[in-house]
Amino acid sequence: MCGIIGYSGHRPAVPLLLEGLHRLEYRGYDSSGVAFEQAGGLHVVKAEGKLSALEAKLEGLAHTLATTGMGHTRWATHGLPVERNAHPHLSQDGKIAIVHNGIIENFQELKEELSAKGHTFLSDTDTEVLAHLIGEERKDAPSLCEAFARALRRAHGAYAVVMMAAEEPGVIYAARMAAPLLMGVGVGECFVASDIPAFLPYTREVVFLEDGELARIKGPAWEVFSLTDLSPVKKSVSYVPWDMQAAAKGGYKHFMLKEIMEQPRVITDCLTGRVLEGEDGARVVLHELDHMPVPTRLHIVACGTSYNAGLWGRQLLENVGGIPTDLDIASEFRYRDPQILPGEAVMVISQSGETADTLAALRLAREKGCMVIGLCNVVGSSIAREADVVLYTQAGPEISVASTKAMCSQMVLIALMALYYGQRRSPAVGDAGLLRELCTLPERLSAALPVMQERAAQLAPRFSSARSFFYLGRGQCHALALEGALKLKELSYIHAEGYAAGEMKHGPIALIDPQFPTFALALDDALFAKVKSNIQEVLARQGRVIALVQEKDGRAPDLAVEELWVLPSAHPVISSFFALPALQLFSYRMADYLGKDVDQPRNLAKSVTVE
Ligand code: AGP
Repeated sequence: MCGIIGYSGHRPAVPLLLEGLHRLEYRGYDSSGVAFEQAGGLHVVKAEGKLSALEAKLEGLAHTLATTGMGHTRWATHGLPVERNAHPHLSQDGKIAIVHNGIIENFQELKEELSAKGHTFLSDTDTEVLAHLIGEERKDAPSLCEAFARALRRAHGAYAVVMMAAEEPGVIYAARMAAPLLMGVGVGECFVASDIPAFLPYTREVVFLEDGELARIKGPAWEVFSLTDLSPVKKSVSYVPWDMQAAAKGGYKHFMLKEIMEQPRVITDCLTGRVLEGEDGARVVLHELDHMPVPTRLHIVACGTSYNAGLWGRQLLENVGGIPTDLDIASEFRYRDPQILPGEAVMVISQSGETADTLAALRLAREKGCMVIGLCNVVGSSIAREADVVLYTQAGPEISVASTKAMCSQMVLIALMALYYGQRRSPAVGDAGLLRELCTLPERLSAALPVMQERAAQLAPRFSSARSFFYLGRGQCHALALEGALKLKELSYIHAEGYAAGEMKHGPIALIDPQFPTFALALDDALFAKVKSNIQEVLARQGRVIALVQEKDGRAPDLAVEELWVLPSAHPVISSFFALPALQLFSYRMADYLGKDVDQPRNLAKSVTVE
């Protein structure tokens, strides 16, 4: 997720752009830049790091007469977060500038085509390729707008793009496809932006652009066209009553809830560019791993939620990927002098890419001469830079301390890795059903999340007085049980234990009583019958039970529990992507009901950069 703002009006543009970019910083900022018109030309200023670096560069530059401009804060997906990769990017002749949020999947192919025509590139980004493509199309197109549309029709993937050009002073173009972009209509001025906070102090009149729409603003004037044929599109203006905080959270009460509800988009973004449709069906592409031999064993090392994601994925890497896999908590791994044999690899998982124990584990593995794969969300983070190979989860910035969408993206990426290694091991084999359901999951999950929200809100008040909770599961649901317990602990401060359901009879069941309820994950998989008997053991001791289940043959299972929570049916692996948000929403609702500080729970930090 990047932050974009464009302005055309009667005020000095640059201060407005900087203000707007500050309000979009929650969308990520590893570099930033602005473009503005001055004395008939386009001026571009960019800087690595936080916005203050850009502001320092703009000090003393003449820009007060510029009343048209655009700005960008970058959350890197292609190319390191360094100045040359910051936006805006220019066409070959420097007369067209663009800023972009999203991923152009076919940018390599377009780059080769343009290079063959003599284009030279200054950055590693997909965005610069798009700028050059617009410039190339401009040579034959009857207008700049037509050139913009032609280039976008050739770009595959997700984009929210804003463009300025020397030939049309005072004009800003914008277009979107599967990435947020909207217009703010002011008095004698218009804005375009990734999100409402960017211009909220200046106008609450908003025009929401849809996928495949292209907008043109010039001062108070605005028009919207269809990208397909540039036919005019009639749009309504909406009034947005939000305050600033509410706007940054997209109208949700907390960032955590916003990030839980973003998970369908996160799955789409994580899959983008990694699933190729061919004559013999779809297959997974992970170019980052192509040059690396298939490890003879994989050691997964992580902390907290990332550890739980690794535990969830271990079974897939072994059963689908065919790779013997073990797992360790980073703070244990780093001190036990692990034996790593030649041909084996370590995979560290970290949303922040800065967790001290995980980084130490990476360094230990490298000291032992072992290849390290990093699964990270933050581009250019320490772990991303020090791993031999890095795979990005592309989940966008995760603001809430409680990790939610990051785990979802880690699970998607591990599933893709398992399928990838399975393909490499024997191309004919593979779990086509799993890949197919992964691709249709975002839509199904979007439909299911509001229902889950309601169910979680119903349950929270009924269990908020519990002094402790058990979370039980088997197989991949064991990992989800650990995660559910972690979420409840860190958000509501209620003690919770995640347990392998089969372990209950080895002692823990002594704890069961009416004040110690159990959240059982009894999904429709091969271990359902076993979990069902564990539930009966709990019920026999007057334990209260919430059972997370799925319909089988159109009917919910017959479990005499206090609360049955029925999820959509799905492929056994895909079922986890419905169970995970259910657990997250339950903890969220419990914490909110108990009046806890959901986004900043006590004693916790988003990234644990100390031992
Ligand atoms: C999860 O909700 C916690 N915030 C915490 O356990 C976190 O997952 C852990 O600190 C690991 O962080 P990382 O993924 O950034 O390495």
